[in-house]
Formats: sequence, C-alpha cells, structure tokens
Amino acid sequence: MERIDKILSSGGTMSRKEAGLAVRKGRVMVNGALVRSASEKINPDTDQIMLDGAPFLYHKVLWLMLNKPAGVLSAARDPKQKTVLDLVPEELRRKGLFPAGRLDKDTTGLLILTNDGEAAHHMLAPKSHVTKRYRARLDAPLPSDAKERFAKGIVLSDFTTLPSKLKILEEENQPLCEVEIHEGKFHQIKRMFLALGCTVIQLSRIAIGSLELDPLLKSGECRQMTEEEVGLVFREPK
Ligand code: URA
Repeated sequence: MERIDKILSSGGTMSRKEAGLAVRKGRVMVNGALVRSASEKINPDTDQIMLDGAPFLYHKVLWLMLNKPAGVLSAARDPKQKTVLDLVPEELRRKGLFPAGRLDKDTTGLLILTNDGEAAHHMLAPKSHVTKRYRARLDAPLPSDAKERFAKGIVLSDFTTLPSKLKILEEENQPLCEVEIHEGKFHQIKRMFLALGCTVIQLSRIAIGSLELDPLLKSGECRQMTEEEVGLVFREPK
C-alpha cells in the first residue's frame, strides 16, 4: 500500500505537492470513489486510479543493485549471449529495467539497473562526474610514480583522464589496487593501467558515488535498493 500523492507523482509529470492539490480539488478517483486525502493509502497494482476522468497509468520507479558475475553482458537483451536482465527475477523483468552504465563482460561487481531514465541519465552524464570505485588485480608491479600519474591524469591515445585516486592494497608481484575515477570511458581502468605497463587480470566495481556493493549480495544476485541507497549514488564519497 502506498500514499496516493506518492503514486501520482511517481511518473514525474507532477510533483508531490501538485498531486496533493489534485486530490484536494477532487480530480482523483480510486475504484470509482473520490479520494479526499493525499495521505490515503491504496494498492497501485490492483486499485484503479482515475485522474481528471482518465485512467492513470502507474509507472513504479525501480532501482536494483546487482552483483554482476563475469561472463554476462551489461545489456538489456542480446540475441545470443546471457545478459544482466537474465539475472533479474521474473516478476521484475517486464518493468522497463536497463543497466545504468556498463561493465565489461569479464568485469564483476556493482551494477545498477533502473527504469528511471531521467535519473540514470543524470548519473551517467559526463558532467555529473559521479565517482566509481574499482578493485583491480594486476599482472605486474606498478612503476614507483603510479600514484602521482593517476593523480595528475593518465595520458591515453585519445584523451587524458581526469585526476583519479590510486590506493595500493597489496604490492607483491601481482598487486591489488583500488582506483576512484570520475568518468566512465570504454575500458577506462584497463587502459589506465596499461599506460603504466600493467595488464588488469581481474576487475570489480565496488562503489558508485557513496553507494557500496552490499557484501551480502552473492555473485549473480540482485535486490531492490532502498530510497536512501538511491540517494547515496548521487552523494560524493568522503
Ligand atoms: N573500466 C574498465 O576497463 N572496464 C570496466 O568494466 C569498467 C571500467
């Protein structure tokens, strides 16, 4: 059960305040009866809502957090290969969900699926600079100036990356690092390390904005995000 004003404003065509006003003006009916209070709770999946005499189509905004396994495509559908949508429970599949951003087929970790096109666009827009944190295992030791080069921006053949943060967790022959970037170009992390002479042999995304991958989510599992978690995506990590 959800508040009628929340349901009416979920489609993005009216604000919560406008929805409340529409109720007070007698423009909203549920199952043939006039709704008198914006706080009235109804079931949007079974109750019939009319706004100004026309059926109101409820578009529930969904946000899912997925722990992407290797070997699965970050796409809504593909004629031949398994996609991340194949990992979503059946009852959530036909809700217009799509992956908000891409991970390479062999990359694992945090992937967000949503049907909120506007918010996803905001999250992915280059000018938003939403921070993404990755953990990478490398095939060879890093040069001694690696951190400084990441901090300055790595020069690639077609662009120079924005300044990024490199943390070295294990230094042995196959180092383990954490990297924070503020953009998301094709193969960006792999290309940044390659520019320093190292190949990424394992890559996993562990955070987007201030949202961290839920450690209880097993590889291949997904779950709906809370409103608070959606907010964390758009908050800069400390
Ligand atoms: N950078 C990469 O190289 N690959 C990914 O999947 C994500 C970021």
